[in-house]
Amino acid sequence: MTAGDDPAGVGAVGTVGVIGAGVMGAGIAQAAAVAGCAVVCVDTSATARERARHQLVEGRFGLRAAVERGKLDAADVDRVIARIAWEPELSAVAGAAVVIEAVPEDLSLKVRMFRELDRVAAAGAILATNSSGFPIGALAAATDRPTRVLGWHWSSPAQIMRFAEIVVTEHTDPDAVETVTRLARGLGKNPVVVRDAPMSWGYVANRVYWAAVAEARRIVAEGISTERDVDQLLVDCFRWPVGPFTMIQGATAGWT
Ligand SMILES: NC(=O)c1ccc[n+]([C@@H]2O[C@H](COP(=O)([O-])OP(=O)(O)OC[C@H]3O[C@@H](n4cnc5c(N)ncnc54)[C@H](O)[C@@H]3O)[C@@H](O)[C@H]2O)c1
Repeated sequence: MTAGDDPAGVGAVGTVGVIGAGVMGAGIAQAAAVAGCAVVCVDTSATARERARHQLVEGRFGLRAAVERGKLDAADVDRVIARIAWEPELSAVAGAAVVIEAVPEDLSLKVRMFRELDRVAAAGAILATNSSGFPIGALAAATDRPTRVLGWHWSSPAQIMRFAEIVVTEHTDPDAVETVTRLARGLGKNPVVVRDAPMSWGYVANRVYWAAVAEARRIVAEGISTERDVDQLLVDCFRWPVGPFTMIQGATAGWT
């Protein structure tokens, strides 16, 4: 992590909007701000905004921890904090060039969000979803700008993980894909572009991951092993950072 004025050359992209300041949105906002972006993060919940503000500095993957790990200069902490505006109203992203939606995984909520984002976001702004698996085409269809809608699927903790699954439909503008992959690289991520699959939930990583989780759950249900031991075996066998059960816990409750 570096946090100079614009160390990764991301400034040219413009302001990044993030919708939702929960487990993912707060981490996404941090990743973008550390890379040098101006960020507007919208959450309707004052509690969520306050928690995110606190976690940004004090969280397990927050700025103080980054300084302790030698990933961030102490002198840059205040600069990163100042780059993020935490806002209650969606209209605050009107000036953003790229908006990343990270509200709960509820299709009707996301469709409504995309309808509203289409209304408030600047003409030409890219609208991305961090959905874990809803078809991008369904969200694009809720807007009058389907060519500017794509998936930008992050993994948790978003501040740390290099994962960037960019999900495109047959209508996605190549220029939008180029902008988002360039931005992702500027944030230190490793973007991979995949095709939207309208008939299934999950893109690539989650389809493979949830198949592994289903098998792990079957193994525990059959009494062959325990959740703790399955986790340990997978960590030791494949050098996974955590096993599937610990991963679900972290992804749901955050990594505090
Ligand atoms: N948690 C993970 O590991 C993970 C990983 C990849 C993708 N995702 C996806 O990211 C998305 C967000 O997940 P999360 O774990 O951060 O959820 P979360 O519940 O921690 O956060 C969601 C936030 O959205 C806010 N919100 C709800 N309605 C809103 C609205 N209308 N306007 C603005 N804010 C609103 C909530 O107040 C909450 O703070 C989901 O689609 C999820 O599937 C999650």
